[in-house]
Amino acid sequence: MVKIAPSILSADFSKLGEEIKAVEMAGADYIHVDVMDGHFVPNITMGHLVLKAIRPLTELPLDVHLMIENPDSYIEDFAEAGADIITVHVEAATHLHRTIQLIKAKGVKAGVVLNPATPVDAIKHIIHDIDMVLLMTVNPGFGGQSFIQNVVPKIKEVSELVQTHGLNVEIEVDGGVNAETAPLCIEAGANVLVAGSAIYGKKDLKDAINSIRGV
Ligand code: DX5
Ligand code: ZN
Repeated sequence: MVKIAPSILSADFSKLGEEIKAVEMAGADYIHVDVMDGHFVPNITMGHLVLKAIRPLTELPLDVHLMIENPDSYIEDFAEAGADIITVHVEAATHLHRTIQLIKAKGVKAGVVLNPATPVDAIKHIIHDIDMVLLMTVNPGFGGQSFIQNVVPKIKEVSELVQTHGLNVEIEVDGGVNAETAPLCIEAGANVLVAGSAIYGKKDLKDAINSIRGV
């Protein structure tokens, strides 16, 4: 069954602990943490101190999506703050292989993120070294944007790449995922779906998660 990773970017920050517990109780598989620096993306969110504060509040893996320049400089901070998965944008990493090794050396799962316009070719030569590919279906920076349907064939392309090599790489999709767009992602081969507004924007969190999961 596909995993669901609620994005706390859409949570009420004044009660972040409760908001995380609530999605955990509602059946979430990961907690997706969107880190933005105001340079790589035009928005600023949270840093490793917030991650450290939420770490003791949940048993779920913390899936940390770094939308920052110079990711190498911050990997140690996020690893030590308790990240279980760290994903870095290929567009922000000058020496991607080195960045991946830095993450793995910290005992953290490593993933690579592709913006909507970035071709799958960008990860072809690193696919054996990573645990996750994250495909953006919006331009990163904000929650609540519309799903870019033209990315769906890329999900399929990554899925075929992973299968061809017989690898154990998770395929995550992020941006505009809801009960209508989730089936397209699942059908194309995604096995982890991030959703912010389609979960935290709903009254019944369990119902929201189930409808994205398609159960
Ligand atoms: C966008 C973030 C997403 C965002 C998703 O830059 O990476 O994780 O929170 O929000 P929705 O699901 O509302 O598009
Ligand atoms: Zn994200």
